[in-house]
Order: sequence, then C-alpha cells, then structure tokens
Amino acid sequence: MGSGAGADRNAPIGVFDSGVGGLTVAREIMRQMPQERIVYFGDTARVPYGSKSRETILRYSRQIIRFLMTRQVKAIVIACNTASAYALETVEQEFDLPVIGVINAGARTAVRATRNGRIGVIGTEGTIGSGIYTEVMQRMRPDIQVIGKSCPLFVPLVEEGLLHDSVTDEIASRYLAELKRHFIDTLVLGCTHYPLLRSTLGRLMGNDVVLVNPAYETAIELKQLLESRGLSCEPGGGEGEKYQFYVSDLAEKFTAFATSILPDAVRETRKINIEEF
Ligand code: DGL
Repeated sequence: MGSGAGADRNAPIGVFDSGVGGLTVAREIMRQMPQERIVYFGDTARVPYGSKSRETILRYSRQIIRFLMTRQVKAIVIACNTASAYALETVEQEFDLPVIGVINAGARTAVRATRNGRIGVIGTEGTIGSGIYTEVMQRMRPDIQVIGKSCPLFVPLVEEGLLHDSVTDEIASRYLAELKRHFIDTLVLGCTHYPLLRSTLGRLMGNDVVLVNPAYETAIELKQLLESRGLSCEPGGGEGEKYQFYVSDLAEKFTAFATSILPDAVRETRKINIEEF
C-alpha cells in the first residue's frame, strides 16, 4: 500500500463506488470520524459493476482514483465490494497513497464472530464469482466453510426504495433459503446496498445469525490506518466544503437518494466526465 508520506492530514478522504451504494460506507465514516472531510464519487453512468468483467472494473477504478487525486485526497476507500474484489490488489501497488477496500474488514469480523465455522456471504455476481471472501477468510482460518450466494435483484430493489416491501421479502426468502440449509451462523452483507436491507435480512435469518456490515468495519479500519500514519484530520482542520459529491451521470437523482440516507441534506452534486481521467 502507498505510504501517503508527506500528505496533508487535513486533506479529504476519497471514497468511491459504482453509484449510490457506497454512501453506506461514507455514512459510517461521517458517524465514526465526524472531523474528516470526504470527496465522494459515484459512477452512476456506468453502474452496475456487479455484472462486469475484472478488466473493465480495473479500468474504471484507475480512472476514478486519478480523478480523486486531482481533489488532493490523502487516502482512498473503495466502498464498492465488486471493485474491491477486482481492483484493490492492483491499484494499491500502482498509486502512492493508502488505498483500502471493504472486503478485508468484513471478512475479519465474520471470522471472529462465527462459532460453528460456517459463514454465508451475499453479494453481486462479480464479488461472489471472484471467490475473494472465501480466499481472505480461509487465509485467516483454513477450516472456515464459506457459502456464497449472489443476490442480483437486491440492488434494483434498494434503488427503487423497496426496503420494506412484500416483494423484497419474497425475493430475499428465496435467496436466503440456500444459506439457511447450510446452518450458517454469520452472514456478511457483501454489497454496498445490503446494509439498507438489514432489518429484512435479520428477520429472515433469525436472531442466532450475526449480520456483518463491512461498511461499519471499514470505517474502523480506516480510522486505525489514518491514526497509524499521522493522517487524522485535526478538529476544524482543512478548508472548503466538508463533503463533496461527484457523479458521472444523473446528479439530481443522486442528490435525492443521498439526502434520504445521509444525516444531513446534500446541497449539490457535480457531474464530471470520468472518461477524461
Ligand atoms: N456497489 C456494488 C457492490 O458493492 C453494487 C452495485 C453494482 O453492482 O454496481 O458490489
């Protein structure tokens, strides 16, 4: 991972995702580190990432990191599980600033939480197909059994606002049935959108299954990383807007969604041409 040596501790953190989902990660960073400044980029023109190839996601991730670096960020958080699965290992070698993804923190928490060694992971086709959660968790504890299940309909359901709806319940019951048959005791919400379905998923899995939200764990990992590098923002440090939002398309739709899930209203979202970077 790049050192970020010489970076300004009061500079913002760059956070990116394929669209709005990564706001669940930004929201956790805002909660846990209220003094930090954030530049968020949502790739709304090219979403979804979950059904695209590794090569394409790597190209997109490089472009976005180049853009965020023009905003003088001190570190990057890849808030998207699919981009973390496909691009993190490569981009952390290529860029000279600290880059973290959402997978390691979530995997570590799940391995600590399980009692019976059977962990379920739900995510996009890309994340589940990459096998990355299984790889990371089995590196930590080789006897862990990981059962992955892609849930492609969850992202559109969340984006349509159907968080508490009988249609969502029905689809979730079908997806989760397979995981229940394996008697998992821990379930990783391995996609940015899924924490917004937490109450439905928790109810369907039952009280004995621990739900792991990688967004929450990633914010903790980020806090530790910034502290260890002397990169935590000073109270009241930095200049300009505290939170900046950029997208590659449909800025107004993004603003409305962001306002509905973030603690404060989002005043402005700027649209940029990401292909220029
Ligand atoms: N952000 C993506 C993820 O966490 C979900 C949406 C998409 O497929 O782009 O994997």
